[in-house]
Formats: sequence, structure tokens, C-alpha cells
Amino acid sequence: MTTKINRRDFIKITTAAGAISLMLPSFINASQAGATQTKSLKSFDGEVQKLLSQMTLEEKIGQMTQAEQDALKDRDDIEKYFLGSLLSGGNSDPKAGNSLEAWTNLYDSLQTRALKTRLAIPILYGIDAVHGHNNVLGATVFPHNIGLGCTRNPKLVEQAARVTAEEVRATGIQWTFAPCVTVPRDERWGRTYEGYGEAPELARTLGEAAVRGFQRDDLSNPLSILACAKHFVGDGGTSMGTGGFGQQHRLDQGDTRLSEKDLREIHMQGYVSTVKAGVGSIMPSYSSWNGIKMSANKYLLTDVLKNELGFDGFLISDYNAIDQITPDYKEAIAISINAGMDMAMVPTKYREFFTLLKELVNEGKVPMSRIDDAVKRILRVKFALGLMDKRRSQLANRSLHQTFGSSAHRQIARECVRQSLVLLKNQKRTLPLSKKSARIHVGGKSADDIGNQCGGWTIDWQGKSGDVTTGGTTILKAIQNTVSPTTKVTFSKDGTGAEGAQVGIVVVGETPYAEGIGDREDLSLAPEDVAAITNMKQAGIPVVVVLISGRPLIINQGLDKADAFVAAWLPGTEGQGVADVLFGDYKPTGKLSVSWPRSMAQIPINVGDKNYDPLFKYGFGLSY
Ligand code: BGC
Ligand code: BGC
Repeated sequence: MTTKINRRDFIKITTAAGAISLMLPSFINASQAGATQTKSLKSFDGEVQKLLSQMTLEEKIGQMTQAEQDALKDRDDIEKYFLGSLLSGGNSDPKAGNSLEAWTNLYDSLQTRALKTRLAIPILYGIDAVHGHNNVLGATVFPHNIGLGCTRNPKLVEQAARVTAEEVRATGIQWTFAPCVTVPRDERWGRTYEGYGEAPELARTLGEAAVRGFQRDDLSNPLSILACAKHFVGDGGTSMGTGGFGQQHRLDQGDTRLSEKDLREIHMQGYVSTVKAGVGSIMPSYSSWNGIKMSANKYLLTDVLKNELGFDGFLISDYNAIDQITPDYKEAIAISINAGMDMAMVPTKYREFFTLLKELVNEGKVPMSRIDDAVKRILRVKFALGLMDKRRSQLANRSLHQTFGSSAHRQIARECVRQSLVLLKNQKRTLPLSKKSARIHVGGKSADDIGNQCGGWTIDWQGKSGDVTTGGTTILKAIQNTVSPTTKVTFSKDGTGAEGAQVGIVVVGETPYAEGIGDREDLSLAPEDVAAITNMKQAGIPVVVVLISGRPLIINQGLDKADAFVAAWLPGTEGQGVADVLFGDYKPTGKLSVSWPRSMAQIPINVGDKNYDPLFKYGFGLSY
């Protein structure tokens, strides 16, 4: 039987090259479409072996070393230590500023140094492009994963990853530390928003979709970037109070106390699927499993991930994570490399790492076979990416600057925003709003704040309130763009002065944070947010509340006063997608990717729990 394909069954996006880059018939189950790389990583082993046989021990260890570009003591170190990789962490910008131009120049100049080494093996440059190329001013910033989880739409997640890949490539960079396939089980955790949601199914399907988007079906495509599934494994399952960062951090980097069965069923699903899809790198977690640091866990890294699941790419340690294994740094390195770590993210201590690992090999404490295996895995990926292709320039393709942050890219992000919004309450058909009201009053601290909309990992590691980046649309601006020319839109942060308006819209919620800094024991709505909602309501008008947050908050005080309530998560730069839903240009389809707790006492709460009685269930979402 042949299947007819209609024109409207295809999703299209136009790339810089002017080509139609995504043509997925909608009847194809997204998890089947291009699920694997056309070439396996192992298929490069012949070429890898040839190169490996010419390498000195120093050159091999160099390949295993990743330094922070910002912390290079001397640029000569790239050649002196044969560095295989560099990263930009959350706060590492080019000295020349944060523009697209400056990033591209930085990449090119560093890569040029690597190409001067004896074997001219290019560096892999890694960055946390976790919701767009979010370190660079003017990039398209997508919703964080918790919002994407509410779309339940793998094809859209794949498209978003393609756009991100293209913007990353515009700067020359070829590697993102994404997707995060964590399964966050306690919303007090500051990294909750980095996961697609509390159900393993979401990490499995959407994580895989993201890998397909980043890597496409062939890593050698000049628009592909290397993906990195993180943080293996159980990062979202740590127990309260075990956090690794002192008192302030209650969950982050803590200990995941679970049976192996639960660890596999809940937290490993995103690795099963991304490995199948051909993910080229995986980052072991800072966290521990039953008291053993993941960076030291040979059973999980080597026996399970590499041997059982068949992961043929390489493992990159988390930022200074090796230091946490044991106080003796040299011993920590031996433990981690012997456990199966292939590349070390040693942002500032790269010289020490290099010297100590060399000593360990010479002393027989790390076998040469382990070094060869690690380097083989790294080189496989470099060959697969086309980095070793002498006919190909390893410098940035600046023609991609044209589509960086372009309206075509922002359209995809806007679609992600529309589909990620979850309508929690809609009394008396408050939504959709009329575009023709005489007056709409807007309030709340996040109504006109692109930084709050974007959340953490935006320009800065922690993100920041205010005009954090260029381009994009605040929700206030989006409302103004949407209403008729005769509609007056007034605004006050505290929600006062709404008298006489037909309707009020209050945008409140969390301000940016990342990682353990975002661990919280109280997720109540801030008093100023409750006040803004109350002030608006006192004008005697219908009130729509839009919540900006990286996780469900305890919203009862706001929900009671609201006529309509929308969870917008951390939508990113495209605030227009929020207005699309408020004014009926898009009927809400989002479904909760997490259970919504009634009170702090209910947390942690997850679908499938005994006596499950949340305020809103996992999967809840109204429409109109
Ligand atoms: C985070 C990772 C991130 C790395 C590099 C770490 O602190 O845990 O998710 O990829 O830093 O910025
Ligand atoms: C870096 C981040 C990193 C973090 C680790 C920050 O200084 O900018 O990239 O994830 O340190 O704690």
C-alpha cells in the first residue's frame, strides 16, 4: 500500500543555504524519522587507528583535555598542551564583547592555533546552547525544556534544535552541552526547568528529538553540531539535604538514593533513546548514586552506558567535577579516567590535569589501553563531524550570520512558545481576549522584562532581569503589537491604576537563576506578585495572570483572584507567542509536563505516586 503525502503534511523551514531543511511527513512517527546517524561512529575506526598510531602520549592526553577559553593562561597553551577541546562556560564571553562578530572571531583565532599543531587536529569547541545559542547577544532564545515538554511535540523540538545548531555554527562552534535529559522529580531543585518534565517518557522522546535536530542524520553536515546528553544519570533524583554545594544547595549535585531498577526506569530513559539516535557525547553528572560520585562510577559509565547501551561516543566530565571525587587531585583523575571518563572539563586546571595524567600513565596507574580507548572515542567524533577533512575549512562559515536571530528562526521559537503555554483556569470565557477592547491594563514585574522571560543560561550563567539580550519581544510589547490601533494599552508594574480598563493582564513569577543557586525550599508566589494581582483585581475587572517560572509555584493566592491563569514557563525571547494565545491567534494545546502541587508540603509530587492529589495533574491543560 502506498501512502499519499499531502503538501500540508510537510513542515518546512528555510535555512541560510536557502534549502528546505526539514521535510518530515507528519504521519511518520517522529521517533522513527532519521532516528539514527547514517554513519555509525565506529565506522571511522580505520582512519582513527591510523592517526592514533602516530600520536605521542602528550598528544593523546591533549585530546582528552578541555580548558575554558577564558582561563587560558597563554594562548600558546593550545599548541603546547595539544588541547583537544575548549569550552565557554556560562560566564565566558570574548574579551571583545558579546557580539556575534566577537564570538566568531574568538572561535576562529583559537581554532587557527590548534591547526598549527604537528598533527593539526582541530579543537572541538563546546558551549551550553541549552535554549538557543544563549550566550550570544541577539540569538534566538527558545523556551527552556520544561516548557518544550508541555508541547509534547518531538517534531517541533527537533526543529528548534536545528535552528539552534545553525546559530551555533554561525560562530564556528561545533558542540553544545545539550540536550539535558534529566528527569526532575523535586521542583525545589534549581535545574527543574532544564528537564522536559517529570515523566521519563518526555526525556526519552524529546531528548531524542533534540539530538536528531542538533546532529541531523549526519554529523558531517556543515549545519550539524555535536550533541551532549546530560547529566548521566539521576541528576534529577537527588535527596533533599544531600546537595554538594554546602548549605545553600539542598538538592543540586546531591545523592540519588534509588534502587538500580528505579534509576533505570526513571532516570536512564533519555540515554537509552539518545544513544540509539547516535548522540556523540554524554556528560556524567556531578551527583552521586547511592553515595558514589557519577564521575567515578565505572559500573554505570563503562559497563552500563558504553558496553550495555552501546554508547560509542565520548564522555565529558562536568565543570571541575573530577575535583569532587576525592581531595587528592591525582587520585581523583585516576579514578575518573579508569571509570571511563574520556575527556575532562578542567576549565582552569588543564595544565595540572595534563601533567598528572601523564604521570599516572607512566606509573602504570592508568593503562595505556584506557588512554587509547578515550582518544579513539574523541577522534571518532572528530572524524564524523568532518573536522579531519582537509578539504574543508574549519573556520566559521560567516554566511550563516545572515540567519542568526532571523525572523524565520524566531518564528520557530514563537511556535514553541505558543505550544508550551498551559491554560490552567479560564472562568467565564475570559480568554481569548478581544483585540478591540477600548483599554487593556498590563501589570506585573515580568510584563516588560525579556531577562525574566528567558531565565537562567541567558547571556549570563545565572541569567538576569532586564534587557539581557537584543532582539525579541517582551510580553507587553507583544500585547501592543496584537491589539487594534484604537486599543489603549496602559502599564504599571504594581498593577495599580487599572480602573476603567476592560481587562487586566498581570505577568509575574520567578526571576532568573541557574543550577544550585536556584534550589529553594519555599516556592510561594512573591508578595509583590500577589500584590500586583490584588491591585489589578481591586479595579473590578477580569484579570488574566501569566506566570513566568522555571517550575510550578505555590500559586493559590494568585489563582483565586485570577479569572484566567496561564503557565508560560520560561518562554525566551519570543513573547509574541504568549500574546498569540491570550488573543486567540492560537488555541492553547499545552499539557503540563509536571504535576502542580497544592502546597510545599506536597513536594515532591510526581505522576504515579500513591495518594496522588495535586492541584493540577500531570498532563492537565485547558483549551478554548
Ligand atoms: C553544568 C553543566 C554545564 C557545564 C559547562 C556545569 O556547571 O552542570 O550543565 O554544561 O557547567 O558550563
Ligand atoms: C560557569 C558555568 C559553570 C559553573 C559551574 C560558572 O562559573 O560560568 O559554566 O557551569 O561555573 O559551577
